[in-house]
Amino acid sequence: MREVIVAKSAGFCFGVREALETVYKEIEKKNGPVFTYGPIIHNEIVLDDLAKKGVRILNSEEDLEKVTDGTVIIRSHGVGEKIYDICCRKRLKVVDATCPFVARIHRIVREKSRDGYRVIIIGDPHHPEVEGICGWGDEKTTAVESVEDFISCGPAKNEKICIAAQTTYNLTKFTEIVDKIRKLGYDIVCCNTICNATQERQKEAGSIASRVDCMIVIGSRTSSNTGKLVEICKEGCGNTIFIQTLNDLDPEALKAAGSIGITAGASTPKQLIEEVQVNVGREF
Ligand code: F3S
Repeated sequence: MREVIVAKSAGFCFGVREALETVYKEIEKKNGPVFTYGPIIHNEIVLDDLAKKGVRILNSEEDLEKVTDGTVIIRSHGVGEKIYDICCRKRLKVVDATCPFVARIHRIVREKSRDGYRVIIIGDPHHPEVEGICGWGDEKTTAVESVEDFISCGPAKNEKICIAAQTTYNLTKFTEIVDKIRKLGYDIVCCNTICNATQERQKEAGSIASRVDCMIVIGSRTSSNTGKLVEICKEGCGNTIFIQTLNDLDPEALKAAGSIGITAGASTPKQLIEEVQVNVGREF
C-alpha cells in the first residue's frame, strides 16, 4: 500500500482565506460594482466563479482611474499608498483585505523611511506584494534578491539601513543574504517579516520531502510562495513534481514511488488538494 503524506499547512493561509471571504461578503451586499485590485487569488477556478458573480479585476492604476463608482477590494498582497490616494480622490469605497503580516511591513517601511533609513526589501522586485511594500517608502526604498543587487544600489557603510523580507521569501536564503551584508560592514537593522504561515509551510514541506520517494507541490505558476515550495522540496527530494491541477499529473512518474508527499501553495483550494490525495493514493 502506498503511503501518502499531506502537509497540514498545505493550501489557503488565513490571509488569503480572509480576503476571499471579504469578496464574497461584498458581493452579497449588492452595493454596486465590486472590483479587486489585482486577482484576489492565484487560482483560475475561483477567479472564474467570481467573474460570473460580476467581480471585475483592476490590473493597473489606469484601470482604477477609469472606475467611477463601486467598491475596490485590496487583496491580501496589499498595495502602495498611492492606490488608496487614488480611491480617496475618486470617492470609491475601499475594503482593505491586506494581510496583517503585509500591513506590518508597510508600517515598518513607512516609519523607517521617515526616520531616515534606507529600506531594502529582500524579495522579487516585480512581485505585486513587493511593489506595494516599496510604495510605502521613499525614493531610496528598493527590493533586491542578492548581495550584488544590494551593493549596486550604492548604500554607504555609514548609512542607516533597514532590511525586511517579502512575506513569502525563503527564510534560509534571507538569513544568508543578511549575514553576508552584515559581514561586509554595513550598519543594518534586520526585520524578519517572513510570515508564520509561510515559515511553517516551508518547514513542513522540506521535512516531508526528505522522507518520501516523490513530492508533489500543487499551486499556480504565478504564485511566488508555490515557487519557493518547489525549490525547498527539490532540495529534500530529487523527484519533486509541480502541478497546477490533477490533469498535470503523469501517473507514470509515480509508479515506482512507495511514498508520496503533498503540499500546496497559499492559493490552492482544499478541494484540489483532496482530489490529488485521493488519486495518488490509488495504485497506478
Ligand atoms: Fe498573509 Fe502569509 Fe498568507 S503574508 S496572505 S498569511 S502567505
